[in-house]
Amino acid sequence: MNTSLDISRTVMDMDSAYVMHTFNRQKIVLVRGQGMRLWDADGNEYLDFLAGIAVNGLGHSHPGLVSAISKQAAELMHVSNLFYVPDQPVLAKRLVELSGLGKAFFCNSGAEANETAIKLSRKWAKEHRGEDIFEIITAEGSFHGRTIGAVTATGQPKYHKGFEPMLPGFKYVPYNDIDALEAAVSDKTCAIMLEPVQGESGVRPAGIEYLKAVRRMCDSRNILLILDEVQTGLGRTGKWFGFQHYGIVPDIMTLAKTLGGGFPIGACLAVDNVASAFSPGCHASTFGGNPLACAAALATLDAIEEENLVQNAAEIGAYFHKKLEELRAARNDIVEIRGKGLMVAVEMNRGDAPIIGQECLKRGLIVNPIGSDIIRFLPALIVGKSEVDEAVGILKEVLESSR
Ligand SMILES: Cc1ncc(COP(=O)(O)O)c(C=O)c1O
Repeated sequence: MNTSLDISRTVMDMDSAYVMHTFNRQKIVLVRGQGMRLWDADGNEYLDFLAGIAVNGLGHSHPGLVSAISKQAAELMHVSNLFYVPDQPVLAKRLVELSGLGKAFFCNSGAEANETAIKLSRKWAKEHRGEDIFEIITAEGSFHGRTIGAVTATGQPKYHKGFEPMLPGFKYVPYNDIDALEAAVSDKTCAIMLEPVQGESGVRPAGIEYLKAVRRMCDSRNILLILDEVQTGLGRTGKWFGFQHYGIVPDIMTLAKTLGGGFPIGACLAVDNVASAFSPGCHASTFGGNPLACAAALATLDAIEEENLVQNAAEIGAYFHKKLEELRAARNDIVEIRGKGLMVAVEMNRGDAPIIGQECLKRGLIVNPIGSDIIRFLPALIVGKSEVDEAVGILKEVLESSR
């Protein structure tokens, strides 16, 4: 008879034999989820403060999402985008109304949404400003995905290494430095692309004055502002979109992650005058916005609205920050608590973030260590105070015991 330990070993051995080695995985095989909890093949339970890297906004196995996906799967899963399907324009309308932008294009991931934004901004600039206007400025420390355009946009040389030459026409500037951006803008600049809160590199919010100044600069020089809201979008920061903290609206915005609640779907939204640069044949995706993906996204949006999850993210996010600040005040190894809403990082000065992450995991808490000193937390938008208390308690215990 196979024991659960045998099952875990078999999965890991098969993965190593047959799956390309692009991830250093935790030695855990996850088999089931419910709300904020996950279980592995050996029956161990985990409190999930990563939510599939900001994807499972509704937690695991949300009944509304499960039933919408099951119902749609039984009716119609996929047809070509050469035909209309009922839910795609409904989803586009919901996102347009929530964001104030004009039209949506659907794809399957964050990287693809950003590819769309890159192509759309270049197409718009060629039509409205001239053939040579193609340059896109992005920030150092940014993360926009792994396809060749998105990884070129990503301002971290370590992700470019081995894949050169990168796409021409990109420039990188320090984040939150308006003078550096002013100096980098040229007559060839068609777009500036930023995350409202840099996520992957350690949860770094844009300054209010910075993003406002970027918006003014784009307006005065007829440059498009692309905001990558793949991680910040759809409630994560305590507002529907990160840009709503800043009193500005981008020309183009990208979404993915939370949008499908765990089902893969991405979207690129743009104001009408920019969206109209795309015409039939310009850009496409076979799976983008198919009936199953749209049903998942609509059920996710319904649940976010019905369960007041944006407000929950703001309130529990504030509570989480307060609890972590209390922990910081009582210790000398935490330098800073950063973030917005439920996008949170603890920066330490002890150089052992990966060990802290491992020790949390051993005690049943899933977090995300970044580099040597940062722990990132991205719990589902449904998280409550008791789970925050539990997570902070585990972190405290780990910090105390692993010195
Ligand atoms: C801000 C941001 N943009 C883009 C991406 C890429 O998304 P995907 O992995 O779905 O391609 C990520 C992924 O972490 C992200 O955080």
